[in-house]
Amino acid sequence: MGNFLAGKVVAVTGAGRGIGRAVALACAAAGAKVVVNDYGVSIEGAEPASEVAEAVVKEIEAGNHGAHSASAEGGGGRRVGDAVAVADDISTMAGGQRVVDLALSRYGRIDGVVCVAGILRERMLFNMSEEEWDPVVATHLKGTFTVFRAASAVMRRQGGGTLIGFTSGNHQGSVSQANYSAAKGGIISLVRSAALGLHKYGVTANCVAPVARTRMSANVPMELQEIGEPDDVAALVVYLLSERAKEAKITGQVYTIAGPKIAVWAQPRELRSAYAEGSWTPEKIADFLPGSVGTDPMPLLAQLEAMTAAAARKDRPNA
Ligand SMILES: NC(=O)c1ccc[n+]([C@@H]2O[C@H](COP(=O)([O-])OP(=O)(O)OC[C@H]3O[C@@H](n4cnc5c(N)ncnc54)[C@H](O)[C@@H]3O)[C@@H](O)[C@H]2O)c1
Repeated sequence: MGNFLAGKVVAVTGAGRGIGRAVALACAAAGAKVVVNDYGVSIEGAEPASEVAEAVVKEIEAGNHGAHSASAEGGGGRRVGDAVAVADDISTMAGGQRVVDLALSRYGRIDGVVCVAGILRERMLFNMSEEEWDPVVATHLKGTFTVFRAASAVMRRQGGGTLIGFTSGNHQGSVSQANYSAAKGGIISLVRSAALGLHKYGVTANCVAPVARTRMSANVPMELQEIGEPDDVAALVVYLLSERAKEAKITGQVYTIAGPKIAVWAQPRELRSAYAEGSWTPEKIADFLPGSVGTDPMPLLAQLEAMTAAAARKDRPNA
C-alpha cells in the first residue's frame, strides 16, 4: 500500500473482522494511525465482546499487517503500526462520538472515517418483526450517521477529511432482507448528502459496495461468479482515503469492488418525462403514462427466479 496514508489518522468501524479488519490493517500498512472500532457481536448483532477490536490492534502493533504493505517495505517487511481499540456500539450517538473522540485524544486529528460495521437479520417482509427491523437499520444507517456526525464537525474545522460509507448491491432491493436493503439505500443518500453539505469545507464522501468472502457474505444468498477477498476492498478504501483520490475530485460516488472487477454506480436521475396540458387526473395519467414515460425495468426482477432458487437451495459463497 506504499505510503498512501502517511501521517493520516483513520477510524474504522466493524474493524475486528472481515472487510473492516482488512481495511484497518491496510490503513496501518499505508502509514495511517488507526482507531479500531468493533462491538464484537455475532452476525445477528448479539453477544458483544471487546477482544475482537483489541486483537486487531495487537496485529497492527506487532507489524503483522506487513502482508498488506508489500510495496511499502519493498517485499513485505514488517512495519510496526500505531492503533487503538474502542469496543463501542456505533448505533448509539455516544458510541459514534467516542470513536472520533479517541482519535482526537490519542492522535490529535481525524482525517478519515470508514463505517463498515454491520449485522444481518434475514426474514421475508411479511414476517419481519420490529426486533428484526430496528437493530439492522440502527447498525448500518444510524451507525454511519453517528460517526459521520461526530467526524464531520471536526473535519469542517480542520478544512478537510474523508467520509466512507459501506453499502451493498442489495440497495437495489432483496427478496428477504428489506431491513438491510433499506438501510443500505439510506447510506447512499446519506453519503451523497455529506458530499454536498461538506464540499465547501474540503471534505469528500464516498460509498463502497463490496463483494468479498467473509462470515457475512457466507450468509447472503447471491450470485457466486463475482466475489473477491477483503484485501481487494481494503485497497479501494485506502485509495479513497488518500490524496490521490482527492486530486481526482472523487466525491459522492458509489463503487463496487468484487475480486478483479471495479465499477461505478450511476447517479439517480429522472429517466424520461412528459408534460400534459392542464391538471392531471387518474384517467389522464392512465391514458398517458404507459406510452409516454413508461417504466424502467428492474434488473433484479429479471433475476428473481434464479435468486429465489438460490435462496431455496441455501447457496452461499464460502467464507
Ligand atoms: N462481505 C460482503 O460480500 C458484503 C457485501 C455487501 C455489503 N457488505 C457490507 O460490508 C460491511 C462489512 O461486512 P463483512 O462481510 O466484513 O461482515 P462481518 O460480519 O465479517 O463484520 C462486521 C463487523 O461489524 C461489527 N459490528 C456489528 N455491529 C456493530 C456495532 N453496533 N458497533 C460496532 N461494530 C459492530 C461486528 O462485530 C463484525 O466484526 C457491512 O456493512 C456489510 O453490510 C459486505
